[in-house]
This record gives sequence, structure tokens and C-alpha cells, in this order.
Amino acid sequence: LPPLDELIASLAVDVPDFPEPGVVFRDLTPVFADGPAFRRMVEGLAAPVLVDPRAAAVAHTDDGRPGDPGFDVVVGVEARGFLLAAAVALHAGVGVVPVRKAGKLPRERIAAEYVLEYGTATVEMHTDSLRRGQRVLLVDDVLATGGTLAASVALVEELGGVVTAVSVVVELAALGGRERLAPHAVHTLWTT
Ligand code: PRP
Ligand code: HPA
Repeated sequence: LPPLDELIASLAVDVPDFPEPGVVFRDLTPVFADGPAFRRMVEGLAAPVLVDPRAAAVAHTDDGRPGDPGFDVVVGVEARGFLLAAAVALHAGVGVVPVRKAGKLPRERIAAEYVLEYGTATVEMHTDSLRRGQRVLLVDDVLATGGTLAASVALVEELGGVVTAVSVVVELAALGGRERLAPHAVHTLWTT
């Protein structure tokens, strides 16, 4: 069995000049499409905080007390983070809550703006989507500049959530996202 970082690296495709000239885009869609790689990614994203590996199984039975997976909810970032967050939540036996791009959530919400290369973008969460003190595993596919995840952390904390871990598949180390998210530690499955 190859190490997970080597497996991800072997399946990811580098796309030069996307979405604009000079950028080499790491396309993870072939990694998601591979069954064994997807399963190992999902398990790997939860692993740093999944206290009881049997909690998922226990949480799915309706007899006996549920085990403690080590976090209460998975928060996933639109859009590619959704593909991972729902699977991680199912694996751990907890629910999933979305961080969405502006204008998508229908009810009372909070917003956080972040800086893009040109201009800004906004992410939002429903005000009632977390309870105070809930332990959150925050999941996305790529950590680049960290703007998206930093804004997502701000939303979770504004709602009283406690970020237990931030997990991503790929960290593009040269872009400084890890430093931007400090003091929160970032768990990554592949650093490039
Ligand atoms: C990508 C990626 C991360 C973010 C990383 O999403 O999925 O969420 O950018 O970049 P950053 O660390 O510099 O913020 P994108 O905004 O392209 O949206 P998508 O998932 O809808 O494609
Ligand atoms: N690949 C995939 N997603 C991204 C990238 C990248 O290189 N940069 C920012 N989001």
C-alpha cells in the first residue's frame, strides 16, 4: 500500500495556467474519483481528532451510549469541501454544517469577507448552525493563501464553536496559509 501522500500526489493532475496565466492548479478530481484513495482521505482528515475509532459504529446503533468521536460536528467549505465534509461526518457519526459563498443561505446568517488576488469574496453561515461550545472539525480540499479557511474559522468562532482541528487534503506551502491560520494547527495529507 503506498503512503497516502504519494497516492494523492500520483492521482492529482497539475494544470498549468488555470484559472489564469502563471498559476499551476492542482486538480484533485481524479483523487476523489478513486474509491480507495477517497476512503483513505476521508479517514485521514478525521484521524487527528477522532478519539475513538469505534465511535462511528457506536453512534450508528440506537442501543447503548454513543461513543465520543472527539468532535461534535464537521464544518465543510463550499464547494469542494462539501464532497469531503459529508463523508467525514458519516465516518465519525456526527452531522455536517456548510460554510457557503454569499447569497446561498436562506435564513439569518453571519458573513466574513476575505481577500482574493483581485478583490474580495464572502462566506456565510446560518446563525443557528452551531451551538456554543460545539467542537468543530473544519474541512476543505486545498489550503492555498488560507483566506477561505481563516474566514471560516472566524465564522465558527463568532457562533461560539470551538475549532478542534482544521484538516485539508493538500497544503500549498509556498502560499503561507498555515501561518495565516495560526494559532490553529492545520492537518494536511499532502504538502506541496
Ligand atoms: C478553493 C479551495 C479552497 C480555497 C483555497 O475554493 O477549494 O476552498 O480555494 O484557497 P485560499 O486558501 O487561497 O483561500 P474556490 O474558492 O475556488 O471555490 P470552489 O470550491 O467552489 O471551487
Ligand atoms: N488547486 C486547487 N484548488 C486551489 C488551488 C490549486 O492550485 N489554489 C487555490 N485553490
